[in-house]
Amino acid sequence: MQIAPSFLSCDFSKMGEELIRMDKAKADMIHLDVMDGHFVPNITFGAPVIKWARPYTKLPFDVHLMISEPHKYIEDFAKAGADIITFHVESDSDIAETIRLIKSHSVKPGLVIKPNTPASTVFPYINDLYMVLVMTVEPGFGGQSFMADMLPKVKEIKDFARSVGRDILVEADGGINAETIAQCSAAGVDISVSGTGVFKAPDAAQAIAELKQLGA
Ligand code: DX5
Ligand code: ZN
Repeated sequence: MQIAPSFLSCDFSKMGEELIRMDKAKADMIHLDVMDGHFVPNITFGAPVIKWARPYTKLPFDVHLMISEPHKYIEDFAKAGADIITFHVESDSDIAETIRLIKSHSVKPGLVIKPNTPASTVFPYINDLYMVLVMTVEPGFGGQSFMADMLPKVKEIKDFARSVGRDILVEADGGINAETIAQCSAAGVDISVSGTGVFKAPDAAQAIAELKQLGA
C-alpha cells in the first residue's frame, strides 16, 4: 500500500517544513486537494500555492481537482509541478478532452468518483487513465468518517480494467486511518490518501509505517 498524505491537513503557516516532514516520514506521494467553492462547498488553494510548495520535496504531487471546470486550469497545474492530475467525472468539463489535455503536458491523468457515482462511469475512459480515485467520503472536507460501502467499486474498476488488458491504479480518499486501512487493502486499493491520520499524528513517520503495515 502506498500512502499519500493530504496536504489539506498540514499547517499552512509552514508549508515547506510540512512537506520536508512528510518526505522524511517516507510518504510515497503528496495528495493536494484543490477546491473551488463551487464544485464542493469549500475553498482551499490553487496552482500558485502548489508552485511555491514544489521545491520542498521530490515526492510526486498527486493533485485532486474538486473544481467545476478542470479543463480551464490543467495547464496551470501542470506548470506548477503536478505529476498526477485527477478530476471528477461529475465535473462540467468534457472528460476525454480534459484527459487529452493532461497527457499533452506529460502529466498522468486520473478520474475521481464521488460516493453516489457508479464505478461504471469511468469505464469508457479506462484505456487513457493512469489512476481512478474512489472517494470514501463526500468531497469537501478532511476529517470525515470512512464509507466502507464504497470499497466494492475498487474491484469493479480493477476487474473491468483487466478485462480490457489494463492494470490500473486505484486510489481511495477520505477517512483512511489505522482503523480503516486494512479494509482498503483487502479491497485492492493501491494508494491510500490520509490527511488527519498522518498530519495530525504525533509522529508522522510512525503513522505512515503503521498504515503501511496494516495495509500490507
Ligand atoms: C476530501 C479530500 C481528502 C481529505 C482527506 O474532500 O479529497 O483528500 O483531505 O482527509 P482525511 O484523511 O482527514 O479524511
Ligand atoms: Zn483528495
